[in-house]
Amino acid sequence: MLGIDIEQCDRFTDWATGKLKRIFTENEINYATKQQNVSQHLCGFYCVKEAVVKATNNKTIKFNKIEVLHEASGKPFINKTQYVSSILNGKDVEISISHTANFAVAVVQIN
Ligand SMILES: CC(C)(COP(=O)(O)OP(=O)(O)OC[C@H]1O[C@@H](n2cnc3c(N)ncnc32)[C@H](O)[C@@H]1OP(=O)(O)O)[C@@H](O)C(=O)NCCC(=O)NCCS
Repeated sequence: MLGIDIEQCDRFTDWATGKLKRIFTENEINYATKQQNVSQHLCGFYCVKEAVVKATNNKTIKFNKIEVLHEASGKPFINKTQYVSSILNGKDVEISISHTANFAVAVVQIN
């Protein structure tokens, strides 16, 4: 199963904390706010969440329960919580993110 999403980064500028927390996890917010272009990274994480919806064809997914983390190398992965396992029916998931100043894109593959 495959999902893809692309979004404009400027959608994710100047969000209030409450709004951020409805979509992103604490770890994602901490990661993004340490980077030079915060909205670019938030946008990439958002694309991952949308791409999970597409790959699973499940529109009930709670975005702040899908968490993008990073290996020491910088490679992103989805934190395999109990919630994620239930959404993915125990399957494995791989993600890839790319961004420019204006757009971010993510691909999600579920095997
Ligand atoms: C890691 C690398 C592939 C990122 O590519 P980039 O064009 O700089 O940046 P992109 O916007 O396309 O991708 C950024 C995303 O890549 C992902 N990423 C970072 N390191 C990664 C890795 N080791 N493996 C897979 N994905 C990685 C992250 O998700 C990151 O976004 P995030 O921090 O918001 O989660 C790139 O910096 C790199 O190291 N390339 C190796 C080749 C190289 O160095 N060439 C230069 C030769 S002169």
